[in-house]
Amino acid sequence: MQNADKDASMDFITSLCGEYQKHNRIDPVYYEKYDVKRGLRNADGTGVMAGVTQICNVLGYYVQDGERVPMPGKLVYRGIDVEELIGGFMREGRFGFEETAYLLLFGALPTREQLSMFQQLLSGYHTLPHMFTEDMILKAPSPDVMNKLGRAVLALYSYDERPDDLSLDNQLQQAIQLIARVPVIAAHAFAVKRHYYDNESLYLHRPQPGLSVAENFLYSVRHDNHFTDQEAKLLDLCLVLHADHGGGNNSAFSCRVLSSSGTDLYAAISAAIGSLKGPRHGGANKKVMEMFGHIEAGVKDWKDDDEIRAFLGRLLRKEAGDKSGLIYGMGHAIYTLSDPRAVILKKFAKELASSKGMLDEFELFESVERLTPEVLLSVKGEDKVVCANVDMFSGLVYKMMGIPVELYTPLFAVARMVGWCAHRIEEVYQPGNRIIRPAYKAVAPMRTFVPLADRV
Ligand code: COA
Repeated sequence: MQNADKDASMDFITSLCGEYQKHNRIDPVYYEKYDVKRGLRNADGTGVMAGVTQICNVLGYYVQDGERVPMPGKLVYRGIDVEELIGGFMREGRFGFEETAYLLLFGALPTREQLSMFQQLLSGYHTLPHMFTEDMILKAPSPDVMNKLGRAVLALYSYDERPDDLSLDNQLQQAIQLIARVPVIAAHAFAVKRHYYDNESLYLHRPQPGLSVAENFLYSVRHDNHFTDQEAKLLDLCLVLHADHGGGNNSAFSCRVLSSSGTDLYAAISAAIGSLKGPRHGGANKKVMEMFGHIEAGVKDWKDDDEIRAFLGRLLRKEAGDKSGLIYGMGHAIYTLSDPRAVILKKFAKELASSKGMLDEFELFESVERLTPEVLLSVKGEDKVVCANVDMFSGLVYKMMGIPVELYTPLFAVARMVGWCAHRIEEVYQPGNRIIRPAYKAVAPMRTFVPLADRV
């Protein structure tokens, strides 16, 4: 397009914005008038009940006399408290992500033999289809790994001989294959991003048989393939903590919505990836680090609570940071007093920070966690119990492990692939399942069609 044409197009688009704003304002009173559950939340902040699941439970409050009462958070996979699950495999010095994937997908802890077979299955499914890397990852590179991941998962449909077969054995096979392949795709997509957008050398490492998902990921993204057992175990823990979060979180619900229409697994999972990318969801882990970049630059004395408070106030008033008005890494739809994932990650972040000489930075994160509730109250008048969420400390842990920030949200996707697949299969195989289809109240007044010649 010529420059003059481009300018004319931009002017027209600007005028279309005005046109849009003139005709598309929805009066907020309608939400109350028609009892619309904004964000699918009830007036007391609880979520609208949209389904029944056996996969995962997220507890952050209890209801007494019709009131939400805050409580310490709990995350439960298939009836097992995640803290207990983690304690179990860590005590035995084992990796836990594969075992967690088995538990979430099938509903029971694997026996030693089942676990070994499942690990072999995952290992055998690492390999991407012939020319997939060349045609789907190297071509049309994306500056965002999440975008490439979504496209690559959607593209796997074309390489599957039975993509639309909804039989249980086919769905499980597709799911296990995807759980094995997504870490490889994410690592390759990152390598390609670095090459095309950051002018770095391109290296693509093949995953190694016999390594855990966490080990293979570190092996793949590091140019020298080197990693320590301690690093791999910590990444494994992060993967376990991110593996699922119930049916109502934005990406799992997106996956369930698509699955309820009878569409294929690749379409449903790529939608979930798109949802996870959002900064209010999984994309928050990247945003947390960006926000701390602003805080670290804008606060001279990291030990001065008043200075930190003032900066947090500027974030909330949209005067600093990305001007969204959000303090990333804080707040949660269900958790109130604590997010158990954040509690666990914080403990490891502190240990790592002290061994790496980064305690000052860790303590700044802690101060933001401590001061945010009072700043929210003073700036927005919100007297809600707000805690640090999983994204507050995951990014710091990844940073201290030398994992590049572009991989934070993709790592979340690598782990959550398990939860998405479990929820999809549960949605498809629920007896009497129906297409998910909530209602929208139409409020535009009726009017008559005006012939083109009569329009002004
Ligand atoms: N920063 C600024 N304001 C926040 C906030 C935060 N971290 N957390 C909650 N709030 C505000 C909301 O913007 C909203 O205000 P509004 O009524 O003026 O729009 C109000 O508190 C609603 O709170 P709540 O119902 O507890 O939150 P939610 O369920 O609507 O949203 C989150 C939950 C996670 C999306 C929200 O806390 C948030 O945006 N946090 C920052 C992003 C983040 O870390 N996401 C990762 C989640 S694991």
